Amino acid sequence: MKKKKNTVCKSFFKIKEINDKERIFKVGYKILEFGSFPGGWSKYILDKYKKIFLVSVDLKKSKKLDKKRHFFIKLNIFDKKIINKIKNIYKKKFDIIISDVCPNITGIKLFDKQNFISIIKRLHFLSVFFLKKKKNMIFKILSEGFEKKIRNIFCNFEKIKFLRLKFKKKRSSEMFVYLKKKNEL
Ligand SMILES: C[S@@+](CC[C@H](N)C(=O)[O-])C[C@H]1O[C@@H](n2cnc3c(N)ncnc32)[C@H](O)[C@@H]1O
Repeated sequence: MKKKKNTVCKSFFKIKEINDKERIFKVGYKILEFGSFPGGWSKYILDKYKKIFLVSVDLKKSKKLDKKRHFFIKLNIFDKKIINKIKNIYKKKFDIIISDVCPNITGIKLFDKQNFISIIKRLHFLSVFFLKKKKNMIFKILSEGFEKKIRNIFCNFEKIKFLRLKFKKKRSSEMFVYLKKKNEL
């Protein structure tokens, strides 16, 4: 099997494992996805749920997988235009935000950790604009030791769960953070 196909397959099975465990998606959901290329998560969602609306964002251009239900934005999540670009496609808030955004890993621990913290803070900022009350968010982190920081950043969320998947590379410290937002006033 070609390398690109493999990447899609791996991601596909990761989101399947998360959804089988936590039931994060429901029919009719409006989903906002960050870090969508090459498209494994998008494919899983669109294949499994017929009545779903998905907006995907990535630095790298991805295919639109469905004419009516899937929209793709090629953009850096740190770009100032992101709020308007998403709002141009869907004006209301989303039922769930999912993120598999992963920066290039340099091997310099302090630098890589700082990069991930910037992404996590950016995801929190975007959740303020785009996530409905009492709704969920899921995102990837690449190492332990972020727990306290994440609890501080996402203090407006009532439940935080750290998920380790069976389907991952050997010795990978990848984890997913699953959050449920409070019913804010
Ligand atoms: C692990 S891959 C995502 C795989 C994807 N979930 C799938 O199912 O195929 C991580 C993605 O994060 C994207 N990414 C990294 N930094 C980003 C940023 N600042 N803005 C947008 N996308 C970013 C990369 O381009 C890459 O495609």
